[in-house]
Amino acid sequence: MEKQLQKFFVLSNVMLLCASLVSTTQSQTNVSAVGDPGMQRDGLRVAFEAWNFCNEVGQEAPYMGSPRAAQCFDLSQGSLIHKVTEKDNKLGVGESLPGLRPEDINNIDLYAVQKELYLGSLCEVKDTPRPWQFWMIMLKNGNYDSRSGLCPQDGKRVPPFKPGRFPCFGTGCMNQPILCHQWTKLEGDVMRGGFNGTYDLDSSCRDSGLDDNNNLSFYEVVWEKKVNVGSWLFKHKLKTSKKYPWLMLYLRADTVSGFSGGYHYDTRGMLKAPLESPNFKVRLTLDVKKGGGSKSQFYLLDMGSCWKNNGAPCDGDVLTDVTRYSEMIINPETPAWCSPTGLGNCPPFHITPDNKKIFRNDTANFPYSAYHYYCAPGNAQHLEQPVSTCDPYSNPQAQEIVQLLPHPIWGEYGYPINKGDGWVGDARTWELDVGGLASRLYFYQDPGTSPAKRIWTSIDTGTEIFVSDKDEVAEWTISDFDVILIQPKSSLMTNVY
Ligand SMILES: *[C@@H]1O[C@H](CO)[C@@H](O)[C@H](O)[C@H]1NC(C)=O
Ligand SMILES: *[C@@H]1O[C@H](CO)[C@@H](O)[C@H](O)[C@H]1NC(C)=O
Ligand SMILES: *[C@@H]1O[C@H](CO)[C@@H](O)[C@H](O)[C@H]1NC(C)=O
Ligand SMILES: *[C@@H]1O[C@H](CO)[C@@H](O)[C@H](O)[C@H]1NC(C)=O
Repeated sequence: MEKQLQKFFVLSNVMLLCASLVSTTQSQTNVSAVGDPGMQRDGLRVAFEAWNFCNEVGQEAPYMGSPRAAQCFDLSQGSLIHKVTEKDNKLGVGESLPGLRPEDINNIDLYAVQKELYLGSLCEVKDTPRPWQFWMIMLKNGNYDSRSGLCPQDGKRVPPFKPGRFPCFGTGCMNQPILCHQWTKLEGDVMRGGFNGTYDLDSSCRDSGLDDNNNLSFYEVVWEKKVNVGSWLFKHKLKTSKKYPWLMLYLRADTVSGFSGGYHYDTRGMLKAPLESPNFKVRLTLDVKKGGGSKSQFYLLDMGSCWKNNGAPCDGDVLTDVTRYSEMIINPETPAWCSPTGLGNCPPFHITPDNKKIFRNDTANFPYSAYHYYCAPGNAQHLEQPVSTCDPYSNPQAQEIVQLLPHPIWGEYGYPINKGDGWVGDARTWELDVGGLASRLYFYQDPGTSPAKRIWTSIDTGTEIFVSDKDEVAEWTISDFDVILIQPKSSLMTNVY
C-alpha cells in the first residue's frame, strides 16, 4: 500500500509537470489541484456524507439508505442531464452494489464506503492528471452513547463505559439524519438545487427548518449558479437543538483516492493532485451571515491528513495511523486556551515565517493568543509535558489537532490577523498560503525519525457547533473555492533543462 501510494505521487507529479508545461508558456506556472477550479463549471458534481461520532455510520436512518448521496449533472443544450438517480441515493445495507464483496453486504459501515465509490463512478469526470468525482458535503453528529461501545479508543476496541462525558439524550442519540433532495433544476438561466434535513427522525423535511420555536435540528446546503457566469454559490445552514447540541457541516475537497482526513478507507473527491506543503495555496470566498453562537468553531480552513508517529504514511492500521488536523477558527468569541498558565494547550513550539523556533515556555515571545488549542495523539510515546491528548473516541484512530486563531503572526500567509476578520458582515475572498503555513506548524513525531511528508488529503470550510447550550443557527456561503499548486521555479528548471 505504501509503495503504491508513493508510486502514485511520483507519477502524478510528473504528469502534472507535463500538463503545466504544455498548457502555458509563462515562466512560472500554477495549476489547480481541484477538478472544478473556482467552482466555475456549469456541470456540477456534489456529494453528501454523514458521519457518526467516530466517523462511521453505526445505524442507518429508516428509509434513508446508507448516508452517502450525490447530485451530479451536465448542462447540455439547455437541459440538465443527471447522472445519479433517487434510487442510487437510497441504496442501503443489504442491497447489492457494484464492487461490494458479498461478505460486506450486511456491514453498515463498509456498505457506506462502497456506496461512496459507486457514486463516484457515476459522477467521475475525466481529467489530467487523474479523473475526479465531486465536492463533498460532510455532516457529523457529535452525540456519543458511551454505552453503545461503538467507538474505539485511539483505534483500540474498548468496552462500553458510563455516560456523562459526551452529549447523548439516550439510546439512539447517534442516529443518522433524514436527507431530502431538491433536485437541481434550470430555471431561466439559473441552476439551483440542494439538500436538507434533520436529525429528528420523528419529524420530516417539511416541518423542520429554521423556525426558532420548533426545537428541531436542521441542516441545508443549496447551490446556485447562473449559466456561464462566475462561481457556484454554496449556501449553508446548520441548526443545533437540545437533542443534537454538537453538529458539524463542512464543504470538503477530498483526495480522489486513498484516505482523506478523518477516514481510514478509500474515498472519492475533488483533489486530483496531491497537496504537499509548502507548495500550494487555497482561494475561496466566504460570507458568514450568522455565526452559530459562542460555541461555533467556524473553520475558515480545516485541513486533514494522516501519517504515523514515525513519519511513515498511513496504511489503514488504526492502531498506528494518526489523523492530523489543522484549523483556523474565525469566531471572535473563541478564546485561546493556550496561555502562559495553560502550556498544556499549546504546541511545544512555534515556528516563525523566517524559521525561528520559539518555545512555549518563552513567555516574552511565544504567540499564545494565536492558538486556541493544541492536542497530541493519544498513542504518542514521547510527549513533552504538560500536554493534553486529543479525544480518543471521535476518530477511527488517534488524532492530533492544531487549532489557530486570527493573529498578526499569520499575516504573512494571508490568514486573518484580527479577531473578527472574515466574520459576520466581513465577507472576503481569501488567498491563503495554506501549504506554507502548514509546513511550519508543530506536529508530533517520535524522536530520531525522519520528518513526515506533509501531504494534505482533505481541505474544508464550515462550522463545528461544539455543544451549544441553546439552539443555535449558523448560515454561510462559500464560492470560488480553488487550490492552486505553486510550481517552484527551481523544480521546473531541474526537471526540464
Ligand atoms: C503563481 O503563484 C505565485 C504565488 O502566488 C505568483 O507569484 C505567480 O504570479 C503565479 N503565476 C502565475 C502565472 O499566475
Ligand atoms: C427541505 O427540502 C424539502 C424538499 O425539497 C422542501 O420541501 C423543504 O421546504 C425544505 N425545507 C426547508 C426548511 O427549506
Ligand atoms: C420547545 O422547547 C421549549 C422549551 O423547552 C418549549 O417551551 C416549547 O413548547 C417547545 N416547542 C415545541 C414546538 O415543542
Ligand atoms: C524551555 O523549553 C525547552 C524545550 O522544552 C527547554 O529545552 C528549556 O530548558 C526550557 N527553558 C526554561 C527556561 O525552562
